[in-house]
Amino acid sequence: MVRAFAGRATVDTYASFLDHRRRPVRAQIVRRVRRSARTVSADGGGSGWRRYGYSARALVLVWAPDPPIALLGLVGVTALTDARLPLGWLRFLAAMAPVTIVITGASGNLGRLTAAAVAERVPPSELILVTRTPEKLAAFARRGATVRPGDFAQPDSLPGAFAGGTRALIISTIGGSEAAARHAAAFQAAAETGVQHIVYTSVPNPVVDNPFPPVAVHRASEQALRGSGVAFTVLRNALYADLRADLAAKYIRDGRWTTNIGEGCHAFIARRDCAAAAAGALTGHGHEGQTYEITGPELVGRPQFLGLLEEASGRPVACIQYDDREYEAYRSAFMSDPGNARFFELFTGTGRAIRMGFLNQLTGAVRHLSGQAPLTLREVIAQRRDTAGTAS
Ligand SMILES: NC(=O)c1ccc[n+]([C@@H]2O[C@H](COP(=O)([O-])OP(=O)(O)OC[C@H]3O[C@@H](n4cnc5c(N)ncnc54)[C@H](OP(=O)(O)O)[C@@H]3O)[C@@H](O)[C@H]2O)c1
Repeated sequence: MVRAFAGRATVDTYASFLDHRRRPVRAQIVRRVRRSARTVSADGGGSGWRRYGYSARALVLVWAPDPPIALLGLVGVTALTDARLPLGWLRFLAAMAPVTIVITGASGNLGRLTAAAVAERVPPSELILVTRTPEKLAAFARRGATVRPGDFAQPDSLPGAFAGGTRALIISTIGGSEAAARHAAAFQAAAETGVQHIVYTSVPNPVVDNPFPPVAVHRASEQALRGSGVAFTVLRNALYADLRADLAAKYIRDGRWTTNIGEGCHAFIARRDCAAAAAGALTGHGHEGQTYEITGPELVGRPQFLGLLEEASGRPVACIQYDDREYEAYRSAFMSDPGNARFFELFTGTGRAIRMGFLNQLTGAVRHLSGQAPLTLREVIAQRRDTAGTAS
């Protein structure tokens, strides 16, 4: 695989060459080919590009006022081999067109991680971060990203927030039917503003019978997205391993874990990996019309989780198994205890959904979208323990 990445140096070479002839010359990269195997693979490994027989580094515009001249050129073309060249060229040039990526909910945990992951793949100047609290994203603004106010509950704020965006990640919000209405408003505003591809974060397996509490909101939201008329990608994120790791620390301290998941299991995923998958969907190609179950690398049930707790604590941890009624009483006591304010215990309906097998998806979508292997729950628990240790 060739990692093609046209930097300033290429443009400077063009500019200084023409400057040498004493013309005031300007040059800029119109489009950089991203550093992904999909777009720049020279060995063809799984790449759609190889089928069209070439790869290139950048589309560069060079111009001079006196005498007026403008040149548009591809830099670093490495292969031109295929008979379907004209169609290939059209596709290639379309893919080289400037892309501006909007991320909503950008000051949240997932929003920040996704913004950082996208900024590793495209220049920050191609990023528009939308948030209700722009001041929290000052560091991204300093790096060159555009930060704009936007609130799904204030539809008037949305056209300005999405303006100029070609692709958008709409990060779901928490709530009941009002959340579904907020998401629909965001899809509509993005569509009307000219966004060509919407990526949306949903929940696993949002079928009617699934008792996982947020399913109804996300079923309605996915339906609204499909009806928006815009190309879409749905990322159905599994339960966050980060939240599970926080709870693991609590269970270890208490020496007991209370649950209603029975013999069910779930492939918890690190937020970091949800962000990497979202960045892949936003910057890659061929994800339009796709719905991905974004899962961790392995299913974790009661024996595996208990094993992780005991491994991390170095001593036995009791597992208390409740039915849904008993668990609901336990959970309400847990959540109303001020000492547990920073934890979020699984809803009774979440445990029931795991127990009934509604949340047992296991896919390779993270690797497919991002090229990276997702973290195991064990790794996330260890990372959080290290961070807590460093902080203390
Ligand atoms: N997979 C899981 O286990 C899991 C768990 C909890 C939640 N979730 C879902 O995943 C989403 C992202 O997770 P997270 O950890 O990043 O949550 P988070 O840190 O709480 O961030 C949620 C983001 O939603 C945005 N938001 C809230 N109300 C909004 C509104 N009216 N208009 C526009 N944006 C609004 C906020 O953006 P600004 O403050 O920047 O405006 C906030 O940053 C959550 O919102 C929720 O839908 C998934």
